[in-house]
Amino acid sequence: MDNSINGHTKVLGLIGDPIEHSLSPGIHNTICRHLNLNYTYVPFRVSPDNLKEAVKGFKALGVTGFNVTIPHKKDIIKYLDEVSKEALLMGAVNTVKNIEGKLYGYNTDGEGLIKSFKSEHISIKDKKVVVIGAGGASRGICIKMAMEGVRHITILNRTRDKADNICNVINSNIQDIARSAEWDGSTLRQYGEQCDVLIHTTPIGMYPETHRCPVKDFDFIHSNMVVCDLIYNPFKTVLLQKAEEKGCKIVNGWGMLLFQAISAFEIWTGVKIHRDLINRLQKVNRS
Ligand code: ATR
Repeated sequence: MDNSINGHTKVLGLIGDPIEHSLSPGIHNTICRHLNLNYTYVPFRVSPDNLKEAVKGFKALGVTGFNVTIPHKKDIIKYLDEVSKEALLMGAVNTVKNIEGKLYGYNTDGEGLIKSFKSEHISIKDKKVVVIGAGGASRGICIKMAMEGVRHITILNRTRDKADNICNVINSNIQDIARSAEWDGSTLRQYGEQCDVLIHTTPIGMYPETHRCPVKDFDFIHSNMVVCDLIYNPFKTVLLQKAEEKGCKIVNGWGMLLFQAISAFEIWTGVKIHRDLINRLQKVNRS
């Protein structure tokens, strides 16, 4: 089929600021090409001052759906007609679908991580999880993991208040399984040595500061632990390299990025993405 844009092409997009380095256009347009679907996915740089007008414009133009990234994930909520319970608890929307002029908000970030784990044959059900960091990414995945039945979650953060805040949302709305502590070497050891899954969500070790590592002492890390770093640039952070040397199963953030995109695409189009295409997409960043 001719893949060029024509009178029937449906538009998907991404709004954020900055937007230039996003990998989402590549992922979504690759999916469209492989499935011969007449959609195109376009990045739009939208400043906070223009968010309201941009959303109005998307409605007027009949855009099928769009992703939302930093700094709009929270502020977009007030411009939407309906928001999923999950996204409301997370306080953030990353996916919007336009159905006959009404905008519906979802958050597929947490689901992205769960699906990424599943693709690596990792189940989080009944597992003891420690999460380092309490920013937006941490909030999304902690809430989703609580909904998916982890045994308990310990959130360690430099600023304890922020971790507390996520724990309160989980304990009062989902199940009473979350606790927080200030993040330092001794709390990490104390909670880390008993956990099944350790997830790092801060930017420490991300390009260009690839030599940095959020964990200083690896003694508590044991081989039957899963260690996940939400960073995907570099593909294997120092944390993941060291955890792998210890015999741990390791997971980086590329799968989460990919699967949150796949979930968004399925919401917009109703098309189920098959395993062979997912396998192909999973290899894109490794080559
Ligand atoms: P994201 O949306 O990617 O989660 P964020 O909302 O800016 O990003 O959150 C970043 C997280 O990394 C926060 O938990 C932050 O800790 P604070 O809440 O104390 O600010 C944490 N973080 C960032 N840089 C850090 C550093 N150098 N040391 C410790 N924690 C850091």
